[in-house]
Amino acid sequence: MSPQEPECLEQILFSAGDIARRVELLGSEIARDYADRDLVLIAALKGAAIFLADLTRAIPIPHAIDFIGISSYQNEASTGAVTLNTRPPAGIRGKHVLLVEDIYDSGLSIQALQDIVRPLQPASLEACALLFKERRRAVQIPIRYIGFHVPDLFVVGYGLDYNELYRNLPCIGVLRPELRAAAQAS
Ligand code: IMP
Ligand code: MG
Repeated sequence: MSPQEPECLEQILFSAGDIARRVELLGSEIARDYADRDLVLIAALKGAAIFLADLTRAIPIPHAIDFIGISSYQNEASTGAVTLNTRPPAGIRGKHVLLVEDIYDSGLSIQALQDIVRPLQPASLEACALLFKERRRAVQIPIRYIGFHVPDLFVVGYGLDYNELYRNLPCIGVLRPELRAAAQAS
């Protein structure tokens, strides 16, 4: 599969270049907003790991990074329940926390992350999502930084998976339907 135009995708929504340019802008905006503040980025594993790796290098002010492991998805349907797979991060009290997510879909994952972090008494708590899915949702949570708005389609690449695959694609796009069907049948 070519990294530029992966055969597994029926449509590319955002190329590696589109993503790199947007992440640079987000990084500058975050650096400006958090100048002179004790910033910690906390990314949700595993989907946001790749976004975080690029975002942290685009933020030219001192800051810490941490991770929270959660899972909420099986195949393409949210199970509704969010499970915490790691310990809550330490040393958060009095810090300005920015939660980093790959995609805001139902909002349940970001809500769960906020519920984990808020009792740790951060000085402030905001969220950044690379993708924001346009759909009706039960949970409405203000997201301070959004990379791109996407239609209500199942997308993969740049950290986003389908059954743990395709996180390595450098771009973001829609998986060919036959690949979804094949994975569901197996
Ligand atoms: P939410 O809890 O419904 O907002 O979903 C957030 C999580 O579900 C994300 O962190 C992803 O792991 C996963 N997810 C939601 N939509 C997609 C998608 O289109 N592709 C891949 N994963 C998705
Ligand atoms: Mg996932």
